[in-house]
Amino acid sequence: MAIRQIVKVNNGKEVLANTSKPVEQFDSKLADLIDDMLDTMVAANGVGLAAVQVGILKRVFVVCVDGETAYEFVNPQIVGTVGEQCETEGCLSVPGVQGVVKRPQKVTVKAQDRYGKEFEITVDGLFARAVCHENDHLNGVLFDSKIMQDDSK
Ligand code: NI
Repeated sequence: MAIRQIVKVNNGKEVLANTSKPVEQFDSKLADLIDDMLDTMVAANGVGLAAVQVGILKRVFVVCVDGETAYEFVNPQIVGTVGEQCETEGCLSVPGVQGVVKRPQKVTVKAQDRYGKEFEITVDGLFARAVCHENDHLNGVLFDSKIMQDDSK
């Protein structure tokens, strides 16, 4: 396990704009990647991290919203959403930027774990927000493109 360097917009905007590819090999290399992503996320005090953020264009992200239980998602698909929430977001790859983004209140995700086993989970609140944010990374989308305009300014 190791901490990897996080790709940031000021030195890797092109990398971050890529669409990640589905994982086909559930091997030790994938397990190492996920372990490193977990270490990297924790070291950076993040609640989520996508593989593209460490320069690997695979459809993988990790999320940990309570500081204790980490979840890993391989080849995730958001198959259902309920409601909406508007909260402030940031991103480890976009330092110094925060903004309000509209996300579903609740999302249902189908994904695989590191061994290829399929699962489905429904999450809400911050967890749902993190899943949507990280899933966007897999499609080359950064949260700052979704920041809501503040009409009061
Ligand atoms: Ni991010």
